[in-house]
Amino acid sequence: MSKLNVAIDGPAGAGKSTVAKLLADKLGLLYIDTGSMYRALTWKALQLNYDFNDTAALAELSSEVMIKLITDNQNYRVFIDGEDVTGKIRQPEVSQRVSLVARIPEVRKNMVRQQQSMAASGGVVMDGRDIGTRVLPDAQAKFFLTASIEERARRRQRDLKQKGYHVPLETLMAEISQRDYIDQNRETDPLVPAEEAIIIDTTGLTINQVVEQMVQHIENVSDCK
Ligand code: DC
Repeated sequence: MSKLNVAIDGPAGAGKSTVAKLLADKLGLLYIDTGSMYRALTWKALQLNYDFNDTAALAELSSEVMIKLITDNQNYRVFIDGEDVTGKIRQPEVSQRVSLVARIPEVRKNMVRQQQSMAASGGVVMDGRDIGTRVLPDAQAKFFLTASIEERARRRQRDLKQKGYHVPLETLMAEISQRDYIDQNRETDPLVPAEEAIIIDTTGLTINQVVEQMVQHIENVSDCK
């Protein structure tokens, strides 16, 4: 059997990255956050004063930049054209624009190609929006995490607070709803659960409870092989 690949999809703030990191550690796999690639590209476009309605220019930029993820799970770093943007890509300016970049088909094609090559030899836990449906359709385990908008906004607010940003809950709820709408309604690879994905509503569950459910499912899948 080829080395295990795990796909985790779901909307912003559903807890994907936290559980994906833990799951990767537990299973001895490599964690890959595909959202960080779209964010790095968005950050670069902001630096270069791109017009976010100019899809052709953004598509071209996506084919020119060099995005590198360096990960040993504990220490996850994102580089674009040699610059470490790990912290910068979480800035609210990036979060507000990233869905506009991620909906461009040519941008997605470039990102998906890189993501598939990172997972080609197996052994990854990859999180994003289209991992089970597009990037890794053959992944041995697929999960789709959800949570209520309120809970997701509250989690985002806590994360941002730790990074020194204070954003009102209502602002975050509005932003998350808008991002969900764009992610779910774009033409290319919209956010939808893969047919065979296990759907987990994380509202009211602890991180460990979610990870446990996933581990159990993966053990069942592995037993069936
Ligand atoms: O998971 P995140 O919030 O860091 O994702 C940032 C944006 O990138 C979000 O608007 C959805 C988009 N994205 C995507 O379209 N496909 C992916 N595989 C990962 C993220």
